[in-house]
Amino acid sequence: MTKHRTQVGIIGAGPAGLTLAHLLYSQNIESIVLERHSREYVENRVRAGVLEQGTVDILYNSGVGQRLKREGLRHQGVELRFDGKGHRIDFQELVGKSITVYAQQEVVKDLITARLGYGAPLSFEAEALRLENYEHEPKIHYQHGGENHEIACDFIAGCDGFHGICRPAVSTESLQVHERQYPFAWLGILARVPPASRELIYTYHERGFSLLSMRSPEVSRLYLQCPQHEDINNWPDDRIWEELRTRMATCDAFVLKDGPIFQKGITPMRGFVASPMQFGKLFLLGDAAHIVPPTGAKGLNLAVADVRVLTRGLVEFYKQGMRDELARFSERCLRRVWKCQRFSAWMTAMLHRFPNEDSFSHEIHLAELDYVTSSRAASTTLAENYVGLPFDTPGLF
Ligand code: FAD
Ligand code: PHB
Repeated sequence: MTKHRTQVGIIGAGPAGLTLAHLLYSQNIESIVLERHSREYVENRVRAGVLEQGTVDILYNSGVGQRLKREGLRHQGVELRFDGKGHRIDFQELVGKSITVYAQQEVVKDLITARLGYGAPLSFEAEALRLENYEHEPKIHYQHGGENHEIACDFIAGCDGFHGICRPAVSTESLQVHERQYPFAWLGILARVPPASRELIYTYHERGFSLLSMRSPEVSRLYLQCPQHEDINNWPDDRIWEELRTRMATCDAFVLKDGPIFQKGITPMRGFVASPMQFGKLFLLGDAAHIVPPTGAKGLNLAVADVRVLTRGLVEFYKQGMRDELARFSERCLRRVWKCQRFSAWMTAMLHRFPNEDSFSHEIHLAELDYVTSSRAASTTLAENYVGLPFDTPGLF
């Protein structure tokens, strides 16, 4: 068994673990990051695309945002489409902020390049197996290169996603779980075709929700609401394009060109919150603690918001010997988490068809969308949440 020692042991090299490691490094706090998959795997995993301005600022101000500034697509609004017509919500005009479309795996690549560039510890194919004494003297047991290792640390950051080991390591009596399973899923594709719109389009249609997003001027990212336990083999490319065209059709003949689909996947839709998010010296961050349905584009942004809170607490602890901020980690994070859950649940309910909906429900969806897009107050509410609510405590970045 090889033994290591660090200040913060970080499990998971997704956006949460890598951003935390980077911010701590910038504050001279040591950490070791363990990731069970290979570098290639995590750099190619297709997921989120929308970054709030606050997320962009943190990445940029901490020195990993140069490529994001160059290649990220800045959007000042989104379109809500229903009943064959599009309605733009102008973020810039309503709340003076914008969002940036930049793929999650590009954020991950930038953070990995930075960390390996300054030579800080990050091990791929290193799987954490067990936590020991996380209340008082934490240790992480892991396997790497066929050998057993142990890290002794001051704190453990559980950034290991929804299926990780950190949340299950906590006894069920000390953890409250709130969960909502949606009776549908999203089928997502990446296609080599220029996006049919400059900005994102969220569409409500009698046949279900669809979303047009993008990754670059040459690559479109599109999603379709589909049944909960759908088999991807039921969706040959032609059927996907046909269904997208039906749902996105407008009275003024919107054209959605197809192109080669080079990635396809189905994502279940759930809302999930574990509370609290800290247990002695173990902290849960990002998807390890909470999942939002992707309709509000909040998952990655919430992970970065958790990191922001923990970084401040750890800096205060190591530089001033104070534990006040660390003690408030869970409370501070959960306030934002629940507001994002609320927003994501609202967007999901407004834009999706639920099983057994009748014509009455359909008319309610249309009336709500009509209200949201025609009332300045309602549009402002959507815009304010979508671009990211202000942080309620000062940050370091
Ligand atoms: P993860 O990215 O899941 O990272 C956890 C890491 O821990 C993984 O690399 C995993 O391999 C590793 N790990 C797990 N167990 C172990 C172990 N035992 N030992 C070592 N390593 C381990 N969010 C947005 O903000 N905007 C969007 O537009 C958006 N769109 C989305 C679209 C889709 C289709 C999906 C699926 C998600 C979307 N999200 C979006 C959500 C976002 O992708 C997640 O919230 C984000 O990945 C969370 O980051 P994380 O670091 O907490 O977890
Ligand atoms: C994406 O581009 O992947 C994306 C955009 C908006 C969402 C979810 C995903 O709400």
